[in-house]
Amino acid sequence: MVSPDLPAELRAVLNARLEGLSRNDAAGRAAAISRTYREGGGSGTIRTETDALAYALARMPATYAAVVASINALTEVRPDFAPTSLLDVGAGPGTASWAAAEVFPSLQDFTLLDANDALRTLALELTRRSHRLRGVAYELGQARTCVAHADAADLVIGSYVINEIGDTERAELADAMWEKTRDTLLVVEPGTPAGYARIISLRARLIAAGAHVAAPCPHDGPCPLVAPDWCHFSQRLQRSRAHKQLKGAELPFEDERFAYVALTRAPAATRPARVLAQPMVGKVEISAKLCTAEGVAIAKVPRRAKADYALARRWRWGDAVDTP
Ligand SMILES: C[S@@+](CC[C@H](N)C(=O)[O-])C[C@H]1O[C@@H](n2cnc3c(N)ncnc32)[C@H](O)[C@@H]1O
Repeated sequence: MVSPDLPAELRAVLNARLEGLSRNDAAGRAAAISRTYREGGGSGTIRTETDALAYALARMPATYAAVVASINALTEVRPDFAPTSLLDVGAGPGTASWAAAEVFPSLQDFTLLDANDALRTLALELTRRSHRLRGVAYELGQARTCVAHADAADLVIGSYVINEIGDTERAELADAMWEKTRDTLLVVEPGTPAGYARIISLRARLIAAGAHVAAPCPHDGPCPLVAPDWCHFSQRLQRSRAHKQLKGAELPFEDERFAYVALTRAPAATRPARVLAQPMVGKVEISAKLCTAEGVAIAKVPRRAKADYALARRWRWGDAVDTP
C-alpha cells in the first residue's frame, strides 16, 4: 500500500515555492478558496500564481490522500493492473498524476487537462524537476472538448472535478471519459451526500454502458444503501508545518472524507466485501457493516471464533475483506 502522504519530492518543491511568499497572504487566499468550495463554488476563484499555490498547499495533500486511498483499493482487487498511460481530467496542480505515478511504476505517458491556466502553470513547475513527471503533456481547455481530442489511456482519473460541472455536461463528460478508458476509470469526489450522489449517478450510467465496478462495490447492481446513509470513506494524512500554518490548524493530521468508484472494462476476478464504517470491537464480538454481493450486512464475529476474530480485529473502514 502506497503512503497517503505527499511524496518528499513534491513536498520539497511546494515548500520551496512558498519561500518568499507572505504566509498570511497565502493563508488568506487559501481560506477564501476553501470558503468558496464550502459554499458550493468551484476553482474559479483561483486566478493567480499565488492563488494556485495557496490551493495546492491547502488542498493538494488531502485530495492526493483520497486518490492514493482509492488507487490502493483498486490495486488490492486488481494486483496485476499495470497501466502505461494516464489521462488526468481536471488535473489542477497535477494531484492525481503524482498519486498514480507513485502507485504505478509502469506509467510512462501522462496527459493532464484543465481549464485553469494558473493551476496548469503551477503543475508544470511542480513536475519540471521530477524524474517521473517532467515529460507530462498538459492541455489547457474545457474538459469535454479536451477529453474528446485526447488519446485513449489505460487509466483515466477525474479527481474532485465532476462537482464543478453542471448536470448535463457532467453526463457527457462521464461518457467521454469512459470512451477514452482502455482499462480503468477512477472518479473521486468529496465524501459528502452530494459527492456520493454524483458518483452513484455516474456509476449507474457507465454500468449501463458496459462498465464493471472494481472498487469499492463488490457488485454491479444498484447501491443498497438507503438515504440518509451514503457510501464514503476516510483517509488520514499528516499535515506539514506549512500546511498547518496555511490552514491555521493545530492538529498534526487531518481526515479527508471521500467517495469514489473504479470502473473497468473487464470484470475483476474477485470482488471482496467492503467495510462501510469503522467496525465496533466489543467484549463478546466484533460487529462490522459490510457491503457484500448480496447487499448490506452486519457481520458479527464472536470472540470465541478465535482465528476469525483475530482477522476481523484488523478490519478498518474502507477495507476489502473476505467474510468468515
Ligand atoms: C477541486 S480541483 C481538483 C484538482 C485535482 N484534480 C485534485 O484532485 O486536486 C477541480 C479542477 O477541475 C477543473 N475544472 C473544473 N471545471 C472544468 C472544466 N469544465 N473543464 C476543465 N477543467 C475544469 C478546475 O479548473 C480545477 O483545476
